[in-house]
Order: sequence, then structure tokens, then C-alpha cells
Amino acid sequence: MQIDPADERILAGEQGETRQKMLELLVALGKVFGAERLVPIRSAQVSGASYKTIGEYGLQWLSSLDAKAVVPAVLNPIGMPRGRWQEMGVDADFAKKQQAVVAAYGRLGISLECTCTPYYLHETSFGDHLSWSESSAVSYANSVIGARTNREGGPSALAAALIGKTPCYGLHLGKNRKPQVVIDVKIATRDWTVADYGALGYHAGKLVGNRIPFFTGIRPDHDQLKALGAAMAATGAVALYHVEDVTPEARKNRFDIRGLEKIPVEFKEIAHIFREVPVEAVALGCPHCSPEELGTLARLLAGKRVRKPLYIFASQGVIDANRKSMEVIEKSGAKVYADTCMVVSPVMEQYAAIMVNSGKALAYVPDMCGAVARIGTTEECVQVATE
Ligand code: F3S
Repeated sequence: MQIDPADERILAGEQGETRQKMLELLVALGKVFGAERLVPIRSAQVSGASYKTIGEYGLQWLSSLDAKAVVPAVLNPIGMPRGRWQEMGVDADFAKKQQAVVAAYGRLGISLECTCTPYYLHETSFGDHLSWSESSAVSYANSVIGARTNREGGPSALAAALIGKTPCYGLHLGKNRKPQVVIDVKIATRDWTVADYGALGYHAGKLVGNRIPFFTGIRPDHDQLKALGAAMAATGAVALYHVEDVTPEARKNRFDIRGLEKIPVEFKEIAHIFREVPVEAVALGCPHCSPEELGTLARLLAGKRVRKPLYIFASQGVIDANRKSMEVIEKSGAKVYADTCMVVSPVMEQYAAIMVNSGKALAYVPDMCGAVARIGTTEECVQVATE
């Protein structure tokens, strides 16, 4: 593996032990996966932010590090909203530990935004190399933006943030980004919503596993692409997908898909996912809401009061930049939380059945929250929460 002279000096310990160890980690990873070099990255998104996941050992390790991120970097959602954890009934001892984890990342120069939608906060462009961890963010970056990232673990994304580089293998290489299977959607999708695309992703992820699918027969917008990719990353392990004439690499490369396995998807396969069961609460924002999604929720909730708990999750940056929508949403009694989400926080564990508009949440809520999950459109979710 080629190492440039500046990196050789880091490996020799000239910039301290933390940067030395972090670069050693990246080089070791590169060697395992056959990378020929390290590539500079534009940003990092670091998982391993919840105290529940990393525990005391992880906190001590983070606290022992001494370096600063050299590229923009954010954290994955944590187990509580930083400023409003009491409202969620989070245990005070846990909150103290979680705050210590976040503070340790802060000392390392990681931005304390805790979100799975870093693309709304830091400009990310076609062809950028990244080191991101969260599966829906990885899928969005690769597929919708045309940037390049493998699905990183927490330590490798942190190392990349501190060094500014990542090993160049896997999805960083154009030759590994070609479609491997065709999903031919045989449904009239013109009126499809985010939830329909979430349901399609929920189904398609099971069909394709970890292959790179190429979709035909659909024209999703950006929020719908976000829902499709997040669900496929949850029920499969899809880190990159293409949509004919829609996603940037499909438009640019004109992939030759002849000879690939072609899997048709019919209406009944998606329709049965929308089963109607009574629910106790509604949760939206998986992945975290976009500005447009907050705008839609404000429109749907204007002048209404919620009668069932309605939780909405978004990054603090998106919340702050959309105060008008936020005022209308909060006036309805809905709760909007930053830093955390319906799956990683304990807030949804009190309910036996939860309605969502996300294929990813549909996949995760049963195991992670111990609740029955029902998917519906955003309109239906608001109707159920306010009727
Ligand atoms: Fe994001 Fe949590 Fe869903 S991390 S994608 S909101 S499960």
C-alpha cells in the first residue's frame, strides 16, 4: 500500500500517539481489503455515539484520545436529545454517561450534531470521498448524491475524521459501483409517497441482500429515494443502488444491464405491507426529516391538535433552519426531537404498537422498541395522530 511521506511521519509518531494509532488502523484496514492507497475525504459521520452501545470501555477509550478532526464530521444519533433528556424519562446516570461520550467527541473536534442525515448540514457532492457509518446515510451519499463511501464502523470513521483520509477500496472505486441485479417495478407509481417507496425498499432489500440493485419503472424524488435506500439498508445490506434515469450514476454511465438477473415487483407484494392495525403512537423522521418533510408536516398539522402521541425526529440544524414549520408543528402538540431517533432512544418503548411512514422503521421497531409496527403515508400518520 502506498503511503505518502507526510503520512509516514504520522506513522512514526511525529504528530502524537493518537494520530499515529488512527493512521495505523486505517492502513491495517486498507491492507485487509487490498487498498492501494489512502484517499482524502470531504467529511465523516461517526457511529458509536450512544453510551448504550459503547459502554464504559468505549467512553474511557474516547477520553484517552488526543487529536482534532481535520475534516467536517458529525455523530450518529445518540440515545437521548441532549438538552431535553428529562422529558423522555431517560435515567440520570445514563444521561451523565451519554453527555460524557458526547463531550469526548467534542474534544476531538467532532461536531455535536447527532444525525443520520449529515447531507442536509455539510455540502456533499458527486464524486466526493467520505467516511460515513450509518447505513441510510451511506446509501443516500452513494446513490442519491453519487459520493463514495463504504459503510464504516465507528472507530474507522473516527480515524478517518482525525486523519482526513480513508483506505481506497470497495465503493470508493468505480469498478465496484456497477449494478448487479435489476428490480423491475411493474406498478403505476406516479402517485407514490415516501411510505410507498419505504415499503418498496423494505421488500427489495430482502430480495437483493448485499447486491447493488438497478431499479426500472420508478421516478422517486429525493425524499422518496431517501426512504427507499434506508429501508433496503435495513432489510438487506444495500449501500448503493441506482434508479434508471434518476440517480446520478445511472444518468451518467448508461449501465449495460443486459444479462443481469431481473426481479419483477408486483402491486400485491407492496400492498400487503400496509396492514392496518390499531396503534398507540406515531413516529416520523426515520431517517431524520428533511426541510421539505417538516414543511409537509406543518401543512398537515396546521390548526389541528394531536390526540395520540406524535414524535418527529430531525437534526438540530434542520430544526433551527425551519422555525416557521416548527412553530406550527409544536402548536399541534407533536414533539420534535433532535440528536436521537425512534429506534435508538427509549421513548418508543412504552408503546405496544407504533405507526411510521418509513420502511426502515417498519423493519427495526419490532426488535428495537418491542412494538408492533404499522406503515402508512405521512397523511395517514397525521390523521391517526389527530383523529
Ligand atoms: Fe436514522 Fe434512527 Fe432511522 S439513525 S435512519 S432515524 S433508525
